[in-house]
Amino acid sequence: MSVVILGIESSCDDTSAAVINDGLLLSNVIAGQKVHEAYGGVVPELASRAHQQNIVPVVSEALRQAGIDKNDLSAIAFTRGPGLLGSLLVGTSFAKGMALGLDIPLIDVNHLHGHVLSHFIKKSPEDSVPEFPFICLLISGGNSQIVLVRSPYDMEIIGKTIDDAAGEAFDKCAKVMGLPYPGGPHIDRLASEGNPKAFTFSRPHIPGFDYSFSGLKTSFLYTLRDALKEDPEFIEKNKADLAASLQATIIRILLDKLGKALTAYPVKHVAIGGGVSANSGVRAAVADFCRKRGVRAWIPERAFTTDNAAMVATAGYFKYLNHQFCDLSLPPYSRVTV
Ligand code: KG4
Repeated sequence: MSVVILGIESSCDDTSAAVINDGLLLSNVIAGQKVHEAYGGVVPELASRAHQQNIVPVVSEALRQAGIDKNDLSAIAFTRGPGLLGSLLVGTSFAKGMALGLDIPLIDVNHLHGHVLSHFIKKSPEDSVPEFPFICLLISGGNSQIVLVRSPYDMEIIGKTIDDAAGEAFDKCAKVMGLPYPGGPHIDRLASEGNPKAFTFSRPHIPGFDYSFSGLKTSFLYTLRDALKEDPEFIEKNKADLAASLQATIIRILLDKLGKALTAYPVKHVAIGGGVSANSGVRAAVADFCRKRGVRAWIPERAFTTDNAAMVATAGYFKYLNHQFCDLSLPPYSRVTV
């Protein structure tokens, strides 16, 4: 009998549901939340409310697109954390209610494991996947980590940010430039027209494989503040060069530590994941870095870089095969616990 998993993702501001059948993706429906745009960031209360409005239609649509009746589901996998607690509660409670109603197992998924395992989302049996062990650079709005992935069940965080995440650096600097939220994609677009060497911003000097982006943010802010005193049009006149220089600095910081990690853990495959892995400059730089180091690069499809339930269903499928189910009493968690 085939294993059909419904995945549910609601950790931040995307409500998503996906169905996979024996590891193959049948549907992946995502409802974003435009309501936050006016506030320059995600407003947790509004996110929870929007999840409540979206969850039933999103799950129904995922089942419809997959051509799967809810009674054919083998298990329900949901994002348990980390994320916004109110948002997580919507997906968690919905998954519990549905699993209880259908009398099928429930599987809790760590959102970050989901991003790592997004490289195992298969649309056809021929799709290839990374070989274990591999290193995954996980870069999103809330996290920046270097993860050593020994198996779907054994992941070790060998480096992480000690302050801001890479996505926050993109978004906060974009905000200083007056760009809309989230700023990452706007910086990406502007950077393609700018000179990455036009400006120099500070880079951290911390030991090991850990990241820090708060110094860069301050350096960017001070550069703009000082220049605006001389010329109020400074940002407008230099926005492409500012974006390109900022992006180049972030890439340099990311690759510097990735290089150190690869020297310490000489694996043959390197993957990237999380929202920032959608960045054109990051994708090109990681591909180039891997080519020069003689390792295989795994760059995810853009649709699977940001929050999606296909990765949750895929991570859930691995846990299903390992009989790792969870209890209905399990609460969500907002912070990284593993
Ligand atoms: O993984 P993700 O969807 O969720 C959270 O961690 O919340 O990542 C969102 C982050 C945001 O900071 C956004 O600006 C960034 O990913 N992002 C990008 C790009 N697309 C999304 N950053 C740079 N370039 C992009 N093209």
